[in-house]
Amino acid sequence: MTTLLNNNDDKLTQLLKINDELNHIKDIDSLLDTILSKTRRLTNADAGSIFLLENRMLNFSYVQNDTLKKKDPLNNKQIYSNFSIPVNEKSIAGYVALQGKSLKIDDVHNLDNTVPYSFNKSFDEIAGYKTQSMMTIPLITTRSQVIGVMQIINAKDEAGNPIPFKQADENYLNFFAGSATSAIEKAKMTREIILRMIKMAELRDPKETGSHVNRVASYSIEIFQKWAEYHNLKYSEIKNYKDILRIAAMLHDVGKVAISDVILKKPAKLSDEEFKIMKTHAYQGAKLFRGNVSELDALSYEIAYTHHEKWNGRGYPRKLKGEDIPLSGRIVALADVYDALISARVYKKAWKESDVIDTIKQESGHHFDPEIVEIFLSIYDVIEAIRLKFPDLDIRTFI
Ligand SMILES: [Fe+2]
Ligand SMILES: [Fe+2]
Repeated sequence: MTTLLNNNDDKLTQLLKINDELNHIKDIDSLLDTILSKTRRLTNADAGSIFLLENRMLNFSYVQNDTLKKKDPLNNKQIYSNFSIPVNEKSIAGYVALQGKSLKIDDVHNLDNTVPYSFNKSFDEIAGYKTQSMMTIPLITTRSQVIGVMQIINAKDEAGNPIPFKQADENYLNFFAGSATSAIEKAKMTREIILRMIKMAELRDPKETGSHVNRVASYSIEIFQKWAEYHNLKYSEIKNYKDILRIAAMLHDVGKVAISDVILKKPAKLSDEEFKIMKTHAYQGAKLFRGNVSELDALSYEIAYTHHEKWNGRGYPRKLKGEDIPLSGRIVALADVYDALISARVYKKAWKESDVIDTIKQESGHHFDPEIVEIFLSIYDVIEAIRLKFPDLDIRTFI
């Protein structure tokens, strides 16, 4: 690593390789994760975050922090922090977004009196962390639009002590930020197309909201991550799978577009006949992805088809049992049911949290895979952070 850091040619080769890698990632969160970890590796930075611009606000979109991770390795809560900062000269990130120029700061606690921005200590205080050196890079498109900023924190020397970032780092990171930005734009477009597909399903069935699918996808990712660690999956395998799992999980109920409004929007309990038709949404969804053109299609097919199967073999449509149900189906089954119970819906109030947890525990080994239930309960603080990140704003008006 040290030799690599000292050799600009190696660095360039590495950057080109990373470029190629970025272009293969489909999911925006996986992409931000990769961009941050590669940037941090290249600069030997302890931490970093990415803010993406939405409605003139910089939304905190991704974070990594080695020191905090070491202190609490099991906690993945941080990435679901939810806050945004305005684009103005008061904050460092806001200033960089406004100016469209990178900014290297050797010590955030020792800023020159003449600068308009100040360092916001609140994140450090909440997290118990000390930011010192910082480099903030704008993410600018080829059309000269700023779509966000990347901030990397605390470059480290050999002994792990914080030192200032190097001038050379700033130069090639600006170059790297260009390709990162076009990859982000592409992934954002994919996410938007998926959300539009979901909007279409939502027009038909108001239960499937954007927030619901975002939550189900994030719960699924976190459950899978833990499962993969217990089962010693390789890092690259975990990463690849997570990349497609989020999108595929979001599409779990997209087959409902094929179900008639009379059934989907019926305000009363469905008759046996109607329920039989409703159940076909699993197969209808799978049909949309048949043909296995890509890994993403294959996983979307699998999840749409199996998310209503039950561990005890009493689910639908194929009455699969135990491990005959693919892992993805077992994970999404729990994530989907949990979210349906804990959320308010047009036709029902949210269940009490303790009742939801009791039900999930009771259903362990019946509806749900016991191992998935155990993992879910062990990461419950992360699950709660996800719920806070994607609230059901529109539903509240109905109750
Ligand atoms: Fe479903
Ligand atoms: Fe659902």
